[in-house]
Amino acid sequence: MEKKRILSGNRPSGRLHLGNYAGALQNWAALQDEYECFFMVADWHALTSEYGDTSELKALTKEMVIDWISVGLDPERSTLFVQSHVTQHAELALLLGMITPLPWLERCPTYKQQIKELSNKDLGNFGFLGYPLLQAADILIYEANCVPIGEDQLPHLEMTREIARRFNNFYGEVFPEPQALLSDIPMLVGIDGRKMSKSYGNCIYLSDEEKTVNHKVMQMITDPARVTRKDKGHPEVCSVCQYQKVFNPEIYEKLWDQCKSAEIGCVDCKKMLAEKINTLMTPFRDKRREIESKPDYVDEVLNAGDAHAREIAEATMQRVRDAVKLY
Ligand code: TRP
Ligand code: SF4
Repeated sequence: MEKKRILSGNRPSGRLHLGNYAGALQNWAALQDEYECFFMVADWHALTSEYGDTSELKALTKEMVIDWISVGLDPERSTLFVQSHVTQHAELALLLGMITPLPWLERCPTYKQQIKELSNKDLGNFGFLGYPLLQAADILIYEANCVPIGEDQLPHLEMTREIARRFNNFYGEVFPEPQALLSDIPMLVGIDGRKMSKSYGNCIYLSDEEKTVNHKVMQMITDPARVTRKDKGHPEVCSVCQYQKVFNPEIYEKLWDQCKSAEIGCVDCKKMLAEKINTLMTPFRDKRREIESKPDYVDEVLNAGDAHAREIAEATMQRVRDAVKLY
């Protein structure tokens, strides 16, 4: 039987962190065995809000792809490509734009929320309103069956399904409706206990060296009520504990009890965590070094990925143009 197809992507917005790994990349890497995977650098999507300064865009794209490959996205098995290099996405987005009612876009929760949160940016542009429409084109053009995404992206996937349905109603059955594949790992908090985010400077990056990881883990906020080593801990409020659950699942329950009874201190607990994270990251670091020793490697991977993506996208577009009776 043919493998089902997956498409997912990220905007190139800087170095990826451990939260990106636990919440998404780990899942993507694992899916490569079972599915035919497409992983896309959504550089046009980045432009919807970052249109004012594009000077870093190419470098950010490359950086993200290095992060991806270092954690196990495998160009031999999966297609890694850049959205703007497959111009067929834009053609499909244009046609989908004809049938997408404006209120669907205006009512999209991510749209309303982002306009509020990023009030320092002018997001009154057409491209930003059309963000989910372009995302629908990304997914539908590969006839992706499944889309591994975070919960925040669910409204976009739902809109993709609605747009596909509407297209099929007008022009005949062209697009399958894609399903979401949610990962069950909640977003990790940053080392200061707030949401892990570049702008807060609280990330553990996939490109961090061992020493940096040790240092950052030691800085992590723990249970504020545990002032001395003898105080009993409250693991449920401690972000180190949250990390242990993700990175040290085998001993997590034991740690929980040892924290509650003050059998273990925070320094030892953190040391165990840092060691585990570094063990996880050792192969990532090796792979990164290997990639960086071959200066043309990333370009070669992307050129091949772009070409393969283009072929499939063009084949879909031929059917789309026929269905809309343009040709
Ligand atoms: N909007 C997604 C994000 O910010 C990125 C993205 C663009 C995407 N196109 C996609 C994700 C298609 C999945 C499928 O994370
Ligand atoms: Fe947190 Fe570990 Fe300290 Fe308990 S022992 S408060 S889980 S760091």
